[in-house]
Amino acid sequence: MDVVERILVSKEQLDKQVEELGARISRDYEGQELVIIGVLKGGFIFLADLARKITIPVDLDFMSVSSYGNSSKSSGIVKIIKDVDTDITGKHVLIVEDIIDTGLTLNHLVELLKTRGPLSVKVCAALDKPSRRKVDLKVDYKGIEIPDEFVIGYGLDYAGKYRNIQEVCVLKREVYTKK
Ligand code: XMP
Ligand code: MG
Repeated sequence: MDVVERILVSKEQLDKQVEELGARISRDYEGQELVIIGVLKGGFIFLADLARKITIPVDLDFMSVSSYGNSSKSSGIVKIIKDVDTDITGKHVLIVEDIIDTGLTLNHLVELLKTRGPLSVKVCAALDKPSRRKVDLKVDYKGIEIPDEFVIGYGLDYAGKYRNIQEVCVLKREVYTKK
C-alpha cells in the first residue's frame, strides 16, 4: 500500500515467532485452566494466529480498551469499552496484545484483572518497543522487538485503517505529518 515506508517484520518472521510462542504457552500451561484475553482491536490478528498454534484447551475472551488523549501516544488512562464475560477467579490468565509501547495499557490491565482473584496474570505481545517503556512491566511472552517507529499492519492501525496488511510496516512519515 502507498502509505508503507518499508516492511519491518515479514510474514515469515511473524509465523516463526507465533509458532514459538504457541509452543511455549502450550508447554507452560499444560494441565492448567487458562483463559486467554485478546485486547481489541489491535490484538485480533495476532491472537487468531497464536490461538491456532496452542495445542491445549483454552478459554478465549476479549477486552476492548482505549486510552484517552492523542491516538498515537499513550496517556496511561485506559477506558474499558468491553470487558470479558468470563469469570477468571481461580484461573490462569494470559493477556494477548499487539504491541507494547510505554507499557501503560498492559500495566493497567494486569492490575485490573488481578483484583478478580485469578491464579496468575501474564502478558504476551506480538511486538515490543522497549525504548519507549515508561513502566517496569514484565513481559512473559515477548514477540519481536522493533525500533521506535510508528508501525501498521498485522492488526495495527493508523486512524482505523491498515490493520489488514499482512506484514508489520513502517508508516510513511508524511502520512501523519501532513495535517
Ligand atoms: P502502551 O503505550 O500503553 O500502548 O504500551 C500500547 C498501545 O499503543 C498503540 N501503539 C501503536 N499502534 N502503531 C500502532 O498502530 C504503533 O506503532 C503503536 N505503538 C503503540 C497500540 O494500540 C497498543 O496497543
Ligand atoms: Mg492496542
